[in-house]
Amino acid sequence: MRAPNDDLLPREFPGGRLRRLRTADLPAFQAYRALPELGRYQGWSPMADAEALAFLSEMSEAPLFAPGRWVQLGIAAAASDGLVGDIGIHLSDDGFTGEIGFTLAPASQGRGIATAAVRQALQVLVASTAVAQVLGITDGRNAASIRLLERLGFAPRESRELVFRGERCREQIYALRPERVGTAR
Ligand SMILES: CC(C)(COP(=O)(O)OP(=O)(O)OC[C@H]1O[C@@H](n2cnc3c(N)ncnc32)[C@H](O)[C@@H]1OP(=O)(O)O)[C@@H](O)C(=O)NCCC(=O)NCCS
Repeated sequence: MRAPNDDLLPREFPGGRLRRLRTADLPAFQAYRALPELGRYQGWSPMADAEALAFLSEMSEAPLFAPGRWVQLGIAAAASDGLVGDIGIHLSDDGFTGEIGFTLAPASQGRGIATAAVRQALQVLVASTAVAQVLGITDGRNAASIRLLERLGFAPRESRELVFRGERCREQIYALRPERVGTAR
């Protein structure tokens, strides 16, 4: 049985597609998630193959979107449908705040693919929920991530000092109102 809102995926954009993750993505997923430069500012750490396979299987049919839960979607190359990145989307317990995080393999960077895929993910989120804002929370040193958020219309909301993986850093919270996202249906 298809999960609610699954008719909103896949979503095509120039150069790629936003789609469900699947277990066949394991080799590609593990290859880019093992790269230290991709995980440096992220909440996740590389997983063992068995854990990653279970994660991909769970995400292949996780609901879009459940309050208090993250769901991870895949970014795939247009021609091959091979996985080149992923996007995590969280819905708050009250359903009014979304949060988004994103990762793109280095070979696919620098062409607007992540920006286009995140735009599609935002459209799906806004079409399926009652979110009144979407947050993008990023390390202040993560310039590529900040540029991506700003390209999509996210505005700086606040920043806070914290210690992440033993290093002092400043976390920047960006916010976007749903009316800036456009429509999905
Ligand atoms: C954050 C991340 C996804 C951004 O990747 P990216 O390749 O810079 O983003 P895009 O695919 O949208 O490409 C945008 C770049 O391509 C350029 N570009 C070329 N053609 C473009 C087009 N048609 N449309 C938009 N941008 C285009 C842009 O100018 C931009 O480069 P710039 O930032 O140097 O100006 C990537 O750096 C990453 O995976 N980082 C590690 C994970 C991470 O830290 N994630 C953030 C946690 S919240």
